Amino acid sequence: MFFSREWRFGGPNGRFPNAILGFVIGYERFMSQPLKILNIVGARPNLPKIAPLMHEMQRHPEFEAILVHTGQHYDEKLSDIFFRQMGIPSPHVNLEVGSGSHASQTAEILKCIEPVLLERKPDLVLVVGDVNSTIAVSLAAVKLGIQVAHVEAGLRSFDRSMPEEINRVLTDAIADYLFVTEEDAIEHLLKEGRPRESIFMVGNVMIDSLCHFLPIARQSGIGNELGLMNGAAWKRFGVMTLHRPSNVDSTEKLSQLLGAVDAIAAEMPVIFPVHPRTQQRLTAGGIRHHPQVRLIPPGGYLDFLCLLSKSALVLTDSGGIQEETTALGVPCLTLRENTERPITISQGTNLLVGTDPAKIVAAARDTLSGKSKVGRIPPLWDGHAAQRIVEILLKLVPRGECIVGVSRNS
Ligand code: UD1
Repeated sequence: MFFSREWRFGGPNGRFPNAILGFVIGYERFMSQPLKILNIVGARPNLPKIAPLMHEMQRHPEFEAILVHTGQHYDEKLSDIFFRQMGIPSPHVNLEVGSGSHASQTAEILKCIEPVLLERKPDLVLVVGDVNSTIAVSLAAVKLGIQVAHVEAGLRSFDRSMPEEINRVLTDAIADYLFVTEEDAIEHLLKEGRPRESIFMVGNVMIDSLCHFLPIARQSGIGNELGLMNGAAWKRFGVMTLHRPSNVDSTEKLSQLLGAVDAIAAEMPVIFPVHPRTQQRLTAGGIRHHPQVRLIPPGGYLDFLCLLSKSALVLTDSGGIQEETTALGVPCLTLRENTERPITISQGTNLLVGTDPAKIVAAARDTLSGKSKVGRIPPLWDGHAAQRIVEILLKLVPRGECIVGVSRNS
């Protein structure tokens, strides 16, 4: 070496230049240190949200992106197939917590994630959506003084009987970075006292996945498999999904809903991929249905996206599907009394019809006779939300500063 760094910065005896030198070296170290993010998935709807984020982080050498699966969902069809189809890297850690009551599942995740956080010492934990894994990991992280980013923050159904609503409110109350998909969410967060500077309108990561995978999904052979093709043309058909406890945990309620769908199925086939929770009730209650209601096992992301994009009508109680149909411009009837995604109604193709069978049948008939809503795609649902999130994280999250295990108030 021709000259030492010290010499270069002002001579061996100069105290001030050495202070500058220390700063420069510290800054260089800071910049060369990767931003270590621990990304969390637990249940099926988390996967199309994490896929573009992992992809974007892996494109940036500044990130060390770690993926943890809590194992809340564990079936091939609710988890593994999504990893394969969307190219999500295998999780570095799987907590394998499995199913259970809300308390035991949440507690198990809390208990199992803590040693992972202590060992990996991330700069930030990133959670998505509103499932039990979202709140459980956020809580464990903040208690260790680790910052948390919540993607899809601020959505509110104002229905506290929904387990997801509790998860949303609590996660938003403790997260440091709140990434929102729609304007209403900003207002909710401000009303709940969250600081404006922690809220970022970034668009919708699930729609990033939709934009990216739609051309691939359209090549799926599911139309032929299900007999929905007339040569190269698609026949008219509907898609239905139901899995909310309020709709499927009671035999009476589920029978009523299927009764309404029977009337629609008399006019066209309705494809019904059945969630395990719903399957349990269908079996236990011996619930019958019209032969044109076609029950199939839960499938992969690509087949399902293909079906959604080609359907004449979607009936659902899912949150994500309300958004996907809005992005696709496909009419959607939401079989719930409320929605945490009002933009799909004010701007999109979604109609909140509730669970009264007569109203469902009337709304479906209106839609099929050409009176469906013409929607538009909400602002920033453009396929680039993950990019925006990653840029914000790179700018704002401090690296290597968090002393994991020391609460921020101690
Ligand atoms: C969970 C989420 C919900 C999300 C949904 C998507 C919470 C509180 N709920 O609800 O927000 O919309 O996932 O699917 O986090 N089961 C299987 N295989 C699995 C997982 C579960 O057969 O891989 C069975 C379980 O035994 C259980 C039932 O499905 O009886 C329901 O699973 P659970 O994880 O309790 O809740 P979900 O209804 O899936």
